[in-house]
Amino acid sequence: MHPDDLPEGIVVADGTGRVVCFNAAASRITGLTAADALGAAFQQVLPLEDVDGRRWWQVTDPYGGLATRTGQPERNLLLPGGREVMVAARYVRAYPKGPLQRLVVTLRGTEARRRAERSHAELIATVAHELRSPLTSVKGFTATLLAKWERFTDDQKRLMLETVDADANRVTRLIAELLDISRIDSGRLEVRRQPVDMAAAVRRHVEAHIAAGRSADRFAVRVSEPLPGLWADPDKVDQVLGNLLENAVRHGEGTVTIEVAAAPLRHDEEGTAVTVSDEGPGIPEESMSRVFTRFWRGSKRGGTGLGLYIVKGIVEAHGGTIAVDRAADGGARFRFTLPVGAPAFLA
Ligand SMILES: Nc1ncnc2c1ncn2[C@@H]1O[C@H](COP(=O)(O)OP(=O)(O)O)[C@@H](O)[C@H]1O
Ligand SMILES: [Mg+2]
Repeated sequence: MHPDDLPEGIVVADGTGRVVCFNAAASRITGLTAADALGAAFQQVLPLEDVDGRRWWQVTDPYGGLATRTGQPERNLLLPGGREVMVAARYVRAYPKGPLQRLVVTLRGTEARRRAERSHAELIATVAHELRSPLTSVKGFTATLLAKWERFTDDQKRLMLETVDADANRVTRLIAELLDISRIDSGRLEVRRQPVDMAAAVRRHVEAHIAAGRSADRFAVRVSEPLPGLWADPDKVDQVLGNLLENAVRHGEGTVTIEVAAAPLRHDEEGTAVTVSDEGPGIPEESMSRVFTRFWRGSKRGGTGLGLYIVKGIVEAHGGTIAVDRAADGGARFRFTLPVGAPAFLA
């Protein structure tokens, strides 16, 4: 491989500090040609300063500093003219704690980091907006009630307090969802596996919907026995079922059918498949790839748009998969599969 093929800038200095390699990306980032750089002292080729104006090579002193040092972690430095660049260094020694044989420096433009920062900023703006609307309503109603308490009837006061209560619940739910998302995104979502009876879990969810006042004939549960064993995190399975059923009832229409069956997975593995379908409008073809993204919601009836993102995160943390398509009679159909997931001592 040729150094010019690398997307990152590479500058290598030999044991005396003379530049012996200077690739095309390094030229692009520094504005120097390889001919200018090769043979020159590395401090002159890369006159880097930190944001406080300190000369970076004087601070780090790769050739003279601690002999135990193996390099410098990546950090944001400035080139002459104030251009930002991400710089990392590796100190190659002849033997541990020996003199520096080669200094290898990588240079990266800051575009990738800027992009990441931008998407971060967008996320924060969305979250702030999502939190503000319920809080604005809470503030409005409490301020009105405090200022004009005697002028309202008990019924009016009750109505306002019910709205405040619902909005406070929305904020609490949103924060719980955001915490889940941060665990999913940072790979910290813990799966505590236990034997799970998926058919029983589905029936429990349906009963809860009926107990909450939904008509029993809105639900049909079909279980194809026998089912393989399933080791999964029961609370997280509940979260997945809760979200999918709630979506089917709220965004869909007609009968919500939940099917539980065995499913062959890759590598001869067995698994459990759960399909939740409804008879509503379904999800438009062009939006199917987006339903699992954060904050996407298709209609005004939508909640936060985080539910399916979390569902997908949970299913994938179990080693499973989830997909959406169209049910036979037009509604949405979500299908997820979970591998048996037995702990190693039982496999
Ligand atoms: N069963 C369904 N039928 C029609 N649309 C659905 C269904 N489930 C989800 N959707 C669409 O997907 C969007 C995202 O769902 P979700 O991530 O759970 O967010 P939320 O329910 O908070 O809006 C919903 O706003 C809705 O437009
Ligand atoms: Mg939802």
